[in-house]
Amino acid sequence: MSTLVIVGTQWGDEGKGKVTDLFAENYDIIARYQGGSNAGHTVVIGDDSYIFHLLPSGILHEAKICLIGNGVVLDPEILFVEIENLRKHGIDISKRLFIDYKAHLIMPYHKIIDETLEEDENSRKIGTTKSGNGPAYADKICRSGIRVCDLIHAESLSVKLDILLKQKSNYLMSNYCINLDKKHIDDIKERYLHYGKLLKNFAVDGSLFLNEQIKKRKNIIFEGAQGTMLDIDHGTYPYVTSSNPIAGSVCIGCGISPIYIDKVVGIVKAYATRVGEGPFPTELKDSIGQQLRDVGYEYEYDPETGRPRRCGWLDTVIVKYANRINGIKEIVLTKLDVLNSFKKIQVCREYKINNEIYQHYPADSELIPFIEPVYEEMDGWEEDISLVRDFKKLPDNAKKYITRIEELTESIVSIVSVGPKRDQTIFRN
Ligand code: GDP
Ligand code: IMO
Ligand code: MG
Repeated sequence: MSTLVIVGTQWGDEGKGKVTDLFAENYDIIARYQGGSNAGHTVVIGDDSYIFHLLPSGILHEAKICLIGNGVVLDPEILFVEIENLRKHGIDISKRLFIDYKAHLIMPYHKIIDETLEEDENSRKIGTTKSGNGPAYADKICRSGIRVCDLIHAESLSVKLDILLKQKSNYLMSNYCINLDKKHIDDIKERYLHYGKLLKNFAVDGSLFLNEQIKKRKNIIFEGAQGTMLDIDHGTYPYVTSSNPIAGSVCIGCGISPIYIDKVVGIVKAYATRVGEGPFPTELKDSIGQQLRDVGYEYEYDPETGRPRRCGWLDTVIVKYANRINGIKEIVLTKLDVLNSFKKIQVCREYKINNEIYQHYPADSELIPFIEPVYEEMDGWEEDISLVRDFKKLPDNAKKYITRIEELTESIVSIVSVGPKRDQTIFRN
């Protein structure tokens, strides 16, 4: 039996989807432990590209079991679109997708609240995905959430919805003059009672299921969403997501003991990106940032909202921080090919704050605006590495970049990704 946590070390979008799909071949079960449809994990197989918001990224492997853990906030509307999209590609998940009874639901009013807060001139703009993720977690903590187990009992659900929909409609009216009229409320009730019938087929006690599989010595991947710097406790608060993407969250979000976590692998993009507001010490607002965005296809998954990702050089201070918090000793370095055309590459080694050198990411957020990244300049390789499959065949300057990342982050780069496809991967050993 072995278990593996796949965790983002930066601000999300490091390539967790590609890596999870890659590793899934050697595992039996792939479980998501937090986040919701704010995540967008891309898996590219041949000419097909899949973006998973809720389904674990191992789902494309026939016969692999996928679990959505209790720590996830589930938007049933998005879930069933994803399932339908797979069905159109001839992929049947009906006997191998399980969802924890205790997972909370994202309700339509959560999306309205998320959107309204983002657009409210008097509240702080976070740049959220407007997916209702934050308000759903807020309701969970306030003990007024609806869970999968509530949804599958039609009679009690109807009573709970009557009370909650009234509360939410009063809240929206008194705070934002938004009227959830009777038709809207009846429509929500009808749709969710329908989702309840559908979800019944997938609902399990996730903790019991996983612990039984662990006893049977099955191999399990826990797939994180977002990244360490978006963690509600350890990230760049308040510019964070509303859950804990870090590895420690696996136990809470799946109901397993820490003694069953064997290994944590950190996913590191070879440069840095961030979507939405908040601190980003190595951000480049110039033509180099634009070049990274264009070459790396750094636009958000949703072609309609299509937000550009902010881009910058690799910050090893935050990767070292993520390694400490998650217990990462091994890194998968992704998107190294995006740096192919750069003559010179900068890597942030440490920070200078008010003329003092900091080797560690400061916990005091008052210091963050004063961070000046201290860079080391390295020579680029200026050749295409997307066809390289053997570490030894990488250009010397690419190897030097990798070695320097290992030194600065005190960890080992065991896999290098040189393109979005499964085979565009270099296994070091
Ligand atoms: P995730 O949220 O961490 O799963 O990452 P996303 O899927 O949101 O973003 C990563 C993007 O980079 C996707 O479009 C991937 O297909 C793509 N990608 C992943 N690895 C590589 C790589 O090594 N090279 C290139 N060029 N693209 C990659
Ligand atoms: P994956 O799993 C990148 C960001 C949003 C915003 C902040 C809060 O694909 O790496 P939220 O909607 O969660 O309340 O937004 O977090 N964010 C992500 N950025 N990748 C993600 O997921 C993200 N999920 C949320 O842009 O800044
Ligand atoms: Mg993503």
